[in-house]
Amino acid sequence: MPLRPGLEGVPVTQSSICDIDGNQGSLKYRGYPITELASNSSFLETTFLLIWGELPSKQELSDFEREVQMHRRLSFRVRDMLKCFPESGHPMDALQSSAAALGLFYSRRAIDDPKYIYNAVIRLVAKIPTMVAAFQLIRKGQDPIQPRDDLPYSSNFLYMLTEQEPDPLSAKVFDRCLILHAEHSLNASTFSARVTASTLTDPYAVVASAVGTLAGPLHGGANEDVIAMLEEIGTPHKAGEYLDNAIKNKQKIMGFGHREYRVKDPRASILQNFGEELFARFGKDEMYEVAKSLEEEAIDRLGPKGIYPNVDFYSGLIYRKLGIPRDLFTPVFAISRVAGWLAHWREQLGANRIFRPSQIYTGMKTRTWTALEERPNNKDE
Ligand code: ACO
Repeated sequence: MPLRPGLEGVPVTQSSICDIDGNQGSLKYRGYPITELASNSSFLETTFLLIWGELPSKQELSDFEREVQMHRRLSFRVRDMLKCFPESGHPMDALQSSAAALGLFYSRRAIDDPKYIYNAVIRLVAKIPTMVAAFQLIRKGQDPIQPRDDLPYSSNFLYMLTEQEPDPLSAKVFDRCLILHAEHSLNASTFSARVTASTLTDPYAVVASAVGTLAGPLHGGANEDVIAMLEEIGTPHKAGEYLDNAIKNKQKIMGFGHREYRVKDPRASILQNFGEELFARFGKDEMYEVAKSLEEEAIDRLGPKGIYPNVDFYSGLIYRKLGIPRDLFTPVFAISRVAGWLAHWREQLGANRIFRPSQIYTGMKTRTWTALEERPNNKDE
């Protein structure tokens, strides 16, 4: 079999979770178009759908919301652990470590017990936002604040982060951003989650490995770089020149391109609309004008290669309007994507075979051992 770098186009599993048509720009979770979910659903309802395969009944949804709400708090030991991390560390590293640490607190490897699976889902969905917000306050020298039981999931996260109850529009837009980022088939972090899951380890290790994979700038980390790029461009009329230079120097335009899409990522279009709602209400962001100009200028230059804005292109602009610091953009992505990772964890366990791909060996053939004293002293040569 020929080598396919990056496994492009190579199926490695069957899945009924997410369906992408990259030529049409369509994305569905469990058969429901993303446009419908982003207009009508909530993040927790979408999480339920992704993980259990069906939309919840009224009762199931309220039970799920209540259970998540009851498990939002962190053990004081997890909080103390977060306090020991260096303030200068990246919040994704703090999140990866603390997600893995949860495995120390909750009994391991009962992964054939449906109750254990349900509880692990609840804990991870409930506690990841609290860990992200707690590290943010701790690194500013403050004590984390407790979740507020009267606030729904997304409002509570923004409250724990900013110490202010968000207005309804901000909470709604944030919740919908979480829906948009919740799942995207076999992206790098989800593949990582499935590989880890296939060893039958615990779900906290599964999520920790996925968080580490999401952190890279070619994956979830791109939206941080988009803002840096827009700031470097500075004004809309410099977008064309920036693109020409980047293309000449073979530099990637951050927030553009996707292995799956040959057209604009449908999530980018929805996010752009949410951004416009926020800018109309809370004031415009100059960088949005730069982004629009970059997208327009890129049509002729990158469009013929099927390179268009991806989900990361507009999300950072929204997050900063919501008061989320730049290096929390990727942890926020993780808060959402945990839904997809857990859906894939369950699916992997349902028909598991450990991942163990093959390789094409390019190293030396058999060599003869040379004793240490007989080896040439490279340093003196
Ligand atoms: N800017 C300019 N050119 C690009 C870009 C881009 N953003 N993306 C791809 N290309 C070009 C490549 O230079 C290459 O051109 P060539 O064939 O002439 O050499 C061609 O398109 C194919 O590029 P690959 O890197 O091979 O495409 P791949 O499918 O491996 O990569 C990826 C996809 C990693 C997303 C890529 O488009 C990229 O690096 N984008 C920028 C980073 C980014 O925005 N990442 C977030 C993706 S969404 C997410 O993970 C949540």
